Amino acid sequence: MVEVFAVASGKGGTGKTTSTLALGMALAAEYDVTVIDADTGMANILFHAGLSDVETTLHEVLAGNAPVEEAVYRRFGMDVVPCGTSLGGFREAEPGRLRDVVATLAERTDVILLDSPATLGSRSAVLPIVLADRIVVVLQPTIPSLSDGLKVQEYATTYGTDVAGILFNRVTDDEAIDRIATKAQRYFEGETLAVVPESETVRAARRASEPLLAHAPDSPPAESYWEAASALTVRPGESAAVADRFRSAVIPDDS
Ligand SMILES: Nc1ncnc2c1ncn2[C@@H]1O[C@H](COP(=O)(O)OP(=O)(O)OP(=O)(O)O)[C@@H](O)[C@H]1O
Ligand SMILES: [Mg+2]
Repeated sequence: MVEVFAVASGKGGTGKTTSTLALGMALAAEYDVTVIDADTGMANILFHAGLSDVETTLHEVLAGNAPVEEAVYRRFGMDVVPCGTSLGGFREAEPGRLRDVVATLAERTDVILLDSPATLGSRSAVLPIVLADRIVVVLQPTIPSLSDGLKVQEYATTYGTDVAGILFNRVTDDEAIDRIATKAQRYFEGETLAVVPESETVRAARRASEPLLAHAPDSPPAESYWEAASALTVRPGESAAVADRFRSAVIPDDS
């Protein structure tokens, strides 16, 4: 039984990678979780999860040079599939192969989280959203960020991908967030899963190459992610049917 989530946002730097690993670790308390770095052009998970030295990554798998099993690393109670950072690796990767990667992994896990690229400009960038059952939209508490996030929601729903919820990150002003969250509830289809504060601890975790929930599990931002994960009701689909759906997914052309 499996459900696939893409962690997405309109612009870059909202905290998608941080949130993917934090939600993954929190969900791993209850489910078998696999996290995939589907941001194949600007991959970052390896730096957040102490995997920068590994030999085989998603790039080699997408280039057809390695089976997916070789790019799966058991870390922090989850299976993590990091992606390489070289331009050459990105050029050789065939984005469409992500369908088979997700299909293969879907047969052996309960929850897949796809860390997604920020922009929606290319095949490799839109695929995670097209493939996922639902998206988690990571927003900063500003009107422009909300507006960008709404575009992502619109795109997702066009491809039949639902919104599981929204996650406010890097929040500094508790009063402003109430106003913005109220507005967001009106426009977004999913509920607000949590509000994550701006915190030096998040940056320290990244510097230590550890996911936030491993580095500081009781810190205020970690608490927010535990809360977000418990608000996220996983709706697992039947694994074989989900895998078939991925294998046959139609990828939009580059526009
Ligand atoms: N709540 C927070 N408090 C402080 N710093 C944060 C917080 N969330 C994320 N950051 C920092 O912001 C930077 C961007 O975060 P992250 O890499 O998770 O974002 P992203 O959306 O994945 O970015 P990109 O679009 O480039 O992939 C990182 O240095 C991270 O440590
Ligand atoms: Mg990222």
